[in-house]
Amino acid sequence: MIVSKSYKELSSTVADIVETQIKEHPLSKLGLPTGSTPLGMYDELVSRKLNWKSIITFNLDAYLMNINHSESYQSYMKKNLFDRTNIFPDHSHFPFRPFSVFEDKIEKSMGIDLCILGIGSNGHIAFNEPGSSFKSRTRVVNLSEQTIEDNARFFDSIEDVPKQAITMGLGTIMESKKIVLIANGKHKLNILNIAMSGEVTEDVPASILQNHDNVEVLYCE
Ligand code: PGA
Repeated sequence: MIVSKSYKELSSTVADIVETQIKEHPLSKLGLPTGSTPLGMYDELVSRKLNWKSIITFNLDAYLMNINHSESYQSYMKKNLFDRTNIFPDHSHFPFRPFSVFEDKIEKSMGIDLCILGIGSNGHIAFNEPGSSFKSRTRVVNLSEQTIEDNARFFDSIEDVPKQAITMGLGTIMESKKIVLIANGKHKLNILNIAMSGEVTEDVPASILQNHDNVEVLYCE
């Protein structure tokens, strides 16, 4: 685990990894997260004025809600990355139905080269909540009470938080060639330690990453 001195340093370190990937492999396929943790990374990436022309992105998950809502993940990505780079609109994908077609799209593009992940306070990655099968693929999921509570801060009230989402499965994510997990804040340290050094169990979805041979974990208090 790489421990950064500050959120700025963590954001810049993960942006370095993405920048290297984009520059060395301009046809890269990236798996991208939302939430508060990656905001600094997106700001860094935008300020570096990289060439996104041939990059293809697959977001990890999306709430089941009106995609034009300001808190949809589609709006988040437009605001924080897509509208600020030269990425082609046709090159950015969110999980969609039929799920097999979405999965085929990833497969036909030769798979995700670099996948950036956050971790939920309950150990979820993307929206694979505790109990998700390690073999799971893209599907609709019910969000756990913990996730709904955690994400209420983005909405006017907890009742407004969507209760369902479409998420890439753990099996889907594990096929990424390289994975970087980012976590910001002391409140994430306990679950991070459990996930990275505890038992590999479906009760802690992020623990599956112990079975991947190319994972980096970046943390800052
Ligand atoms: P956060 O969410 O970055 O807003 O803490 C992380 C996650 O739930 O995956």
